[in-house]
Amino acid sequence: MKELTLTKKRQTEDDKSRQQVLIESGHIPEHIAIIMDGNGRWAKSKGSIRLHGHKVGVDSVRDITEACAQLGGTYLTLYAFSTENWGRPTAEVRGLMRLLVSSLRKEADNLHENNIRLVTIGQLERFPEDCIEELTEAIELTEQNTRLQLCLALSYSGRWDITEAVKKIATHVKEGRLDPSLINDQMISDHLSTANVPDPDLIIRTSGEYRISNFLLWQLAYSELYMTERYWPDFRRNDLYQAIASFQKRDRRFGKISISKDENPSNSRLLKN
Ligand code: FPP
Repeated sequence: MKELTLTKKRQTEDDKSRQQVLIESGHIPEHIAIIMDGNGRWAKSKGSIRLHGHKVGVDSVRDITEACAQLGGTYLTLYAFSTENWGRPTAEVRGLMRLLVSSLRKEADNLHENNIRLVTIGQLERFPEDCIEELTEAIELTEQNTRLQLCLALSYSGRWDITEAVKKIATHVKEGRLDPSLINDQMISDHLSTANVPDPDLIIRTSGEYRISNFLLWQLAYSELYMTERYWPDFRRNDLYQAIASFQKRDRRFGKISISKDENPSNSRLLKN
């Protein structure tokens, strides 16, 4: 397969062998979701303006996207702009929008050449027209790609997502097309913006905060959480590898119990309650 070249750097042998260790030592999470945080504090620590933190954060996005695709992950969801972020100073919001447009302009062909599909979740209609145009072009260009789905959560919040799903389901009920007793977990998942995408296996948050901040609230029911002190602009592939190694050591029981192979070697590791 053609070598991935998002970062324009040749992959080193050392990096290939680190990835190989992870691939051989367990599951690579199918869906990784990341709360990218700490751009402002990173910039402050360098005596720079906040926007500089966001700009260097784009380099992290590129590196992490490339590493995920190389590892064989299928879905990467990035919390790039929350509903609450609209409340930031206008200059910062405008700066972020400009950065989004310029990054998409630079990266869209690159994503496409590397068989990566770009999608978004959130209230895209709240974005300025040039942003929507650039996003729509990149989304259409990469529509058929299959290696990795890169989802940008833009003007997104988990409560917004659930509220929209409830509105759609309530409309089906109102129109007499749905018996409320048939509403179940799966139906709610199917009406969220992430319908058809598996729930995240691993959620990473950078910058030493231990919060979910209104991200994928329904979808994270059984996600493994990994919090790191690193600010997002410093978070690169080796940090991702640490997060995945930690994930591989977890015992995911999904509310059931695990038994050792010695106790019952013929059974799978998971037993129903
Ligand atoms: C959080 O740091 C980061 C954001 C709100 C924006 C993330 C955006 C990028 C990395 C750049 C654009 C992304 C793409 C996909 C092109 P913060 O500003 O909350 O930092 P702080 O908590 O230290 O203030």
